[in-house]
Amino acid sequence: MTTESAINTPEHNHKLYIETVGCQMNVLDSELVVGALRQDGYELTNDMFDADTVLFNTCSVREHAEHKIYSQLGRMKFSKRKRPNQVIGVIGCMAQKDQKLIFRRAPHVDMVVGTGQLAEIPRMVQEARANRERAMAVSLGRKAGSRDTVSRSFESYDPLREPEMRPSPFQAYVRIMIGCDKFCTYCVVPSTRGPEQSRAPSHILSETKVLADQGVKEIILLGQTVNSYKHTEEDKLHRLSDLLYMLHDVEGIERIKFVTSYPKDMGNDLLEAMRDLRKVAHYIHVPIQSGCDDVLKKMKRGYTVEQYREMMGRIREILPDCAVSSDFIVGHPGETEESFEKSMDVIREFRFKNSFIFKYSPRPGTKAYDLYEDEIPDKIKKRRNNEMLALQNEISEEDNTNFIGKEVEVLVEGPSKNEEKKSDNQSTAESADPNGPIQLMGRTRCDRIVVFDGNPRLTGSLTNIGVYDCTPTTLMGTIVTRAYQHGTDGMLPILQ
Ligand code: SAH
Ligand code: SF4
Ligand code: F3S
Repeated sequence: MTTESAINTPEHNHKLYIETVGCQMNVLDSELVVGALRQDGYELTNDMFDADTVLFNTCSVREHAEHKIYSQLGRMKFSKRKRPNQVIGVIGCMAQKDQKLIFRRAPHVDMVVGTGQLAEIPRMVQEARANRERAMAVSLGRKAGSRDTVSRSFESYDPLREPEMRPSPFQAYVRIMIGCDKFCTYCVVPSTRGPEQSRAPSHILSETKVLADQGVKEIILLGQTVNSYKHTEEDKLHRLSDLLYMLHDVEGIERIKFVTSYPKDMGNDLLEAMRDLRKVAHYIHVPIQSGCDDVLKKMKRGYTVEQYREMMGRIREILPDCAVSSDFIVGHPGETEESFEKSMDVIREFRFKNSFIFKYSPRPGTKAYDLYEDEIPDKIKKRRNNEMLALQNEISEEDNTNFIGKEVEVLVEGPSKNEEKKSDNQSTAESADPNGPIQLMGRTRCDRIVVFDGNPRLTGSLTNIGVYDCTPTTLMGTIVTRAYQHGTDGMLPILQ
């Protein structure tokens, strides 16, 4: 940092505004970028017009996500006149995908930084302010060189973290791999995130230990196809199951989750590790995408419904209480009414805990974009989306009802959404006692959301809750205070 930039002036107030769209990978990337800029003296602000550094961490998975960013950039167009020193950066997946096109569509953007170059941001922000020249740092295209060369151009950005950088002090994302090699026809991720590369187990372990020392209780391991993880270190091949054993031993860590899994790579070694390791959540997000073999083939997902069913059978056998969630794309090219009904049937058959449902969005640069026409009108996509959501909600509510009257163990995450809204609307003068009971939320081992009243100090602890009601997405309960009876063990059955 230069002495000049260390002084706050009206032109350079060291305020940073960052907007993040997309998946958990992006949330983690933003956290790391904010951490790095904090070390250069930046402070976060919620007001993008007041910040001298504005970053958009972008997603390209659907067109809508890109539109959102381009319209935000439009809003920024005139703010530079008031703040000539302002630096506007577009980072992440859309930066890697659109590259120079971003400068053409939004000439006031100063820097474009792809997912594999995030470590460059602090230097680039400083240079952009000093030189007022546009700068771009992106990785190679998937076909621009050998696999090794392309892989090297995508650098995993995983500096060791400082506690104040996390949104929640006791939960943390930990990246275990970057990129994707599956090339589903509809998907941009293999080009925006580059070739699949797993991080060394020793690095993941030391990051986890640092996090545990900082008070983290729950880690969420991230990868686009997280269960495809493999890394050879000291002549030993480590799979995700091996990694779970390794991380399970880290003192202070109470719960371990991982997202997102790929159906074909779901080995019994992983399911057995989940069964045998107390800290590992009984929750698997393993998207099926469609219930119709013809559509799955067009998507190039690499499995049939029957193969997915076989995988589900193994999950149910080895982990009977495990919750499974899915993603679906409706209106993919080739999806007839009959294929759509088959997707509805798999929701009925597999009874997912929840499903994320998306309308097909053609993405330039993907195989589907080149090969298939986006033939299904938006009206039909919308209808299918709504019908599927209604069915999934019905099933989620029915399954949640089974928890009523039971006791669940919950890792308390903090104030519920309702509580947060309430305190946002409350003025400081009338704010409630900080230690009085508020509505808290937490999750069960199988990732179900539970809300209950309790002391905010419970945040980060494992607490037993008796469930008395539910919605499709939430269990409602009260904290269990145990009354032991003579002659019995006084316990209600504990569901996970
Ligand atoms: N790696 C994860 C998901 C990555 S993208 C996996 O393979 O499961 C998250 C979800 O977005 C996908 O599961 C898919 O359902 C959806 N998606 C991806 N590309 C899409 C597109 N072009 N149109 C609509 N939805 C899409
Ligand atoms: Fe995209 Fe398929 Fe890779 Fe998931 S597995 S990121 S859907 S290409
Ligand atoms: Fe979007 Fe990139 Fe994630 S395209 S879904 S932010 S990997």
